[in-house]
Amino acid sequence: MVWLLLLFALVLWFVTYKISRRNMYKLASLVPAPIEELPIVGIAHTLTGSPVDIMETLQNFSYASFKFNGILRAWLVHLLYIVVTNPVDLEMILKNCLDKDNLHRFLRKITGNGGVFAPVSIWRRRRKIIIQAFRPKITENFVEVFSEQGEILVKKLEPRVGTGTFNLWPYISTYTLDSVSETAMGVKLHSQDDSKTPFLQAMTSMLNLVCQRIFHLWLQPDWLYKFMPQYVMHEKNKSILHDYTDQVIKTKREEFEAEHKSRPESEQKKDYDLDGYKRKSFLDLLISLSGGEKGYTNIELREEVLTLTVAGTDTSAASMGYTLLLLGKYPDVQEKVYQELYDVFGDSDRPLVKEDLLKLKHLERVVKESLRLYPPVPFIIRKALEDTKLPSGYVLPSGSGVVVSIWGVHRDPKYWGPDAEKFDPDRFLPERFKLEHSCSFMPFSNGPRNCVGYQYALMSMKTALSAVLRRYRVVVTEDALHNPYIKVKLDVMMKAVDEYQVALERRAPKTLKSNEHVA
Ligand code: HEM
Ligand SMILES: *[C@@H]1O[C@H](CO)[C@@H](O)[C@H](O)[C@H]1NC(C)=O
Ligand SMILES: *[C@@H]1O[C@H](CO)[C@@H](O)[C@H](O)[C@H]1NC(C)=O
Repeated sequence: MVWLLLLFALVLWFVTYKISRRNMYKLASLVPAPIEELPIVGIAHTLTGSPVDIMETLQNFSYASFKFNGILRAWLVHLLYIVVTNPVDLEMILKNCLDKDNLHRFLRKITGNGGVFAPVSIWRRRRKIIIQAFRPKITENFVEVFSEQGEILVKKLEPRVGTGTFNLWPYISTYTLDSVSETAMGVKLHSQDDSKTPFLQAMTSMLNLVCQRIFHLWLQPDWLYKFMPQYVMHEKNKSILHDYTDQVIKTKREEFEAEHKSRPESEQKKDYDLDGYKRKSFLDLLISLSGGEKGYTNIELREEVLTLTVAGTDTSAASMGYTLLLLGKYPDVQEKVYQELYDVFGDSDRPLVKEDLLKLKHLERVVKESLRLYPPVPFIIRKALEDTKLPSGYVLPSGSGVVVSIWGVHRDPKYWGPDAEKFDPDRFLPERFKLEHSCSFMPFSNGPRNCVGYQYALMSMKTALSAVLRRYRVVVTEDALHNPYIKVKLDVMMKAVDEYQVALERRAPKTLKSNEHVA
């Protein structure tokens, strides 16, 4: 009897569930389906493989969407995703669908409600504050940090010169982590000196664990995850990240209060000085911009600072890696970059200053072209909270996830020509570059929720790349030289499978002047 009742309840629930989603099924049926779609599971069976397979599947869906005016549906059992590559539709989506998909809840467990992953209601207020901290007048002062960290990167690479191919990832990711933590928190992490820094290890492990949860449905429910072996590691790694950040914030707060009290003595009105640090970090700015003691709580500060660190580290490192690999594959392009650097620096060994950056126009085009072909964030997932009619005529059903395929728009021959897959930095020459749609090129996304670190990232990458390329020539293996493609995987960010294998050769000074010592 009880069983019968239970069965009845279950059937009733199922029927109401289906009816409540009738609208979604109806609208979804009007969106083109990929040939891989099966009854019930949809495309879930195509996403069971490794991070390389998952990336390839999502690339294939992006390419398949070109045939259907840039849209394709993807059922993950009961979850509906719509893959979009049409730049006109995307402009509207990025303006109107500001909420992130539920999958971001796994990242929120670490970063809380900081910028990238927060629900819209919380995000609006925080965006207003963080956007002020990223004004160009403020961020351009960070070039000093990038330049200093870039010189450390060059020193760390020195023992690798002329010793064959090696893995570039540990070098570039510690460069970006040290620069981001110095500018975000105002502390020198010194991970370039010691890649076993607990903070770095915890962050890398954390991203791996989160990525596993996103793609493996059985790791998703919280109650079940608690029984998994990964859970203990998840919690331990999380507390390493939190404890470290909390400690920095506590110190900053005390300084902030001390400085506040000592205001009248004008000579003590100097910048905060933590470990010999003179510039204002984002943390200082966030404390004062949000209203000092009445502003952000310590937890809110931790959320913002950790979010910046997660958003800014692997993205810029991956992008630098792709750029250096591509320069190895295209030696003529690298020679042009070197010539430009030589015109600016000559044989001098002086560190880069911010005025130099404006002169590095060809390097900038190279970085942009590498961001087009290998965007470190290849997909963004937003959520449609209501039925949304797109300019193309299709309707995004309420409750569906929208997969914004940056990978796709960047390689669509409709907008980039028949040679869309070719690496050609001169596409970005002012006389050749005409964007028909603002969303045809958007490595940093588009609309009100785009990347706040856009200019910061370009400055950081250009500074470190020029430090390396002035001193060394990047070389790749014979195989890689004849293969234009870089094999990639999806690991929250998109990264090269081989972790960026290159070799370095020393650049000989063109003249001997630099050897003369002037008293
Ligand atoms: C090459 C490097 C980078 C790339 C490709 C990149 C890409 C992106 C993309 C695509 C988004 C938007 C996601 C969306 O529209 O839903 C984003 C958001 C964001 N990025 Fe970046 N990013 C980079 C570097 C940085 C850096 C260096 C920082 C900070 C130091 C940063 C901070 C942020 C923040 C805070 C957001 C969230 C904005 C919001 O939701 O209001 N990013 N980034
Ligand atoms: C993607 O498409 C290519 C070419 O059509 C095919 O060879 C490959 O097997 C596909 N990969 C996946 C994972 O579906
Ligand atoms: C962090 O996670 C990794 C696995 O991703 C694990 O090997 C490591 O032990 C964890 N760290 C701690 C302190 O538990």
